[in-house]
Amino acid sequence: MSELIKLEIYRFNPETDEKPYMQSFEVPLEKPGMKLLDALNYIKWNIDGTLSYRRSCGEGVCGSDGFNINGVNGLGCITPLEGLKQPIQIRPLPSMVVTRDLIVDMTHFFDQYRQIKPWLQSKSPEPENERLQSPEDRAKLDGSYECILCGCCTTSCPSWWWNGDRFLGPAALLQANRWIQDSRDEATGERLDELEDAFKLYRCHQIMNCMETCPKELNPTKAISDIKRALTKRKV
Ligand code: SF4
Ligand code: SF4
Ligand code: FES
Repeated sequence: MSELIKLEIYRFNPETDEKPYMQSFEVPLEKPGMKLLDALNYIKWNIDGTLSYRRSCGEGVCGSDGFNINGVNGLGCITPLEGLKQPIQIRPLPSMVVTRDLIVDMTHFFDQYRQIKPWLQSKSPEPENERLQSPEDRAKLDGSYECILCGCCTTSCPSWWWNGDRFLGPAALLQANRWIQDSRDEATGERLDELEDAFKLYRCHQIMNCMETCPKELNPTKAISDIKRALTKRKV
């Protein structure tokens, strides 16, 4: 008989529940290498079809299944069940408005992403073919283009918890730096002007929760420091 894994999952249906509660489940460890998302799927398909959570790719690419797992944010689909302390406590991403169970409202997070204008801006005439970039300049984008916008970093940032209405948070700032660093982009000055703000950028206090929680092992803290350095550099 398979080993049983114990989980406690945050439940809340705003249409019927007065307040959230934790529900216990047991899931058989059917095969080695099972991930947390496999356990959630098992519960949904075999025990309680009302359990609600987002997922899509199952491979750490789409960024939709960010949860708080035993107190640390991560992606369900790439978190192995084995090794997690039981009962495994699964909650929605912290500080977010819960739509239902593990589903949170990401509207504000994506609004902040839009604010940094995540697209190439250029006034130069369009080249006949593609916009060329040297291998060295392309390498400067390593460590930022891989971001899958899962929100694990931003929702683990205490500065964003307190000032998320104005502080852009690590995910949006990592992406802001991705465009600042891009040799093909011609709006660096405007991008820096937008970020030179006591709240949007400077509310980062280098606590580094963001870096520790990123499932893609990216370093938003360094990206934020790079932006601050670029702002200082253009003053001297
Ligand atoms: S930096 Fe990492 S944790 Fe933050 S949104 Fe991107 S992939 Fe997710
Ligand atoms: S380093 Fe900055 S952005 Fe990252 S968690 Fe700390 S305060 Fe937030
Ligand atoms: S389901 Fe796509 S990242 Fe986990």
